[in-house]
Amino acid sequence: NKVVLAYSGGLDTSVILKWLQQEYGCEVVTFTADIGQGEELEPARTKALAAGVKEIYIDDLREEFVRDFVYPMFRANALYEGEYLLGTSIARPLIAKRLVEIARETGADAISHGATGKGNDQVRFELGAYGLNPEIQIIAPWREWDLLSREKLLAYAEQHGIAVEMKRDGTKSPYSMDANLLHNSYEGYDLEDPWVEPGADMWRWTRDPRQAPDRPQEIELRYERGDIVAIDGNPMSPAQVLAELNRIGGEHGIGRADIVENRYVGMKSRGCYETPGGTIMLKAHRAMESLTLDREAAHLKDELMPRYASLIYNGYWFSPERTMLQAAIDQTQQVVNGEVRLKLYKGNVTVTGRRSASDSLFDVSIATFEEDAGAYDQGDATGFIRLNALRLRVAGRKRRL
Ligand code: ARG
Ligand code: SIN
Repeated sequence: NKVVLAYSGGLDTSVILKWLQQEYGCEVVTFTADIGQGEELEPARTKALAAGVKEIYIDDLREEFVRDFVYPMFRANALYEGEYLLGTSIARPLIAKRLVEIARETGADAISHGATGKGNDQVRFELGAYGLNPEIQIIAPWREWDLLSREKLLAYAEQHGIAVEMKRDGTKSPYSMDANLLHNSYEGYDLEDPWVEPGADMWRWTRDPRQAPDRPQEIELRYERGDIVAIDGNPMSPAQVLAELNRIGGEHGIGRADIVENRYVGMKSRGCYETPGGTIMLKAHRAMESLTLDREAAHLKDELMPRYASLIYNGYWFSPERTMLQAAIDQTQQVVNGEVRLKLYKGNVTVTGRRSASDSLFDVSIATFEEDAGAYDQGDATGFIRLNALRLRVAGRKRRL
């Protein structure tokens, strides 16, 4: 029997690799993905080879990640519990999909991952995998073994000659982190007290807004069917767009969040997130929709959004209900075409202009404060208000209000 392991090359998954070989006596296939986490992938190959792995998959999934997962999600303006841009949540179904595909290609009957038994990630990996291959076996070492502390893990690593090294910049972060093209996240360590402010040196992607440039930077984004296709007139692929917005946003200290969230498994957890590009994208997309979407379509979309966000957070990307909502959302985006201009300044994103040559519903001849050419009869408002007031007057007469 054979198992495909989602392998980062870090301490946890290196221990898992060894543990799978020992406890299950099975052949391990490793899968390492570049989803824009900004780490070298070749060390993962070297380590897997050293551990005797014969089939090593290293995939660049950055374009697929942004095109097929991040972009569709941003069409919905998804935000979990009003704050979280779902950076980790949206990457998990892609990993699940590749694990299942690689299992099929290599003839493996099982997959394995390094998510703990306390978190959301295990749920997302496994719901995704079961949906895509109902017969797949899943091994979640964190729910089985007794290496439940950092010390035990390190001791196991030492016993089995597994190298433990520092991050590229020479510092080992004490936080549980997860990075990809959409975000970088921090959990655990001093964040476990929700009252404690994280140290300034925790943040790695964004500048402290106080250290950001003193001059605002202006950018212009072009939208086609709800997706950004160009920055400042330069056409770019989805992954290029997000990488560029992360770079610019990070400079200006945009997209830090410090929140307590409700995990699907029932506990509250405190996390800090850096989502510079995503923060700009959400603001800009809403501005593009404000000009091009019908009011009722836009409001209905806003009502569905929290459901859509929860379902991604909870691991139901591959589900009938997500597919259904996505179809409705995508249908609205046909008219979301045009440009948005924004200013970035010390942690803030401000929209300074929006236009759509083809699809704007904004009609200055109707909305003008000057005299209009008969497009709107102010006298119509008298009856509109009287009829809407009818039930209020009835209730008022009964002294109900
Ligand atoms: N709490 C966030 C979420 O559930 C981030 C999880 C981070 N995952 C990690 N393996 N460190 O989406
Ligand atoms: C984990 O427990 O593996 C990370 C946190 C989460 O999945 O929510």
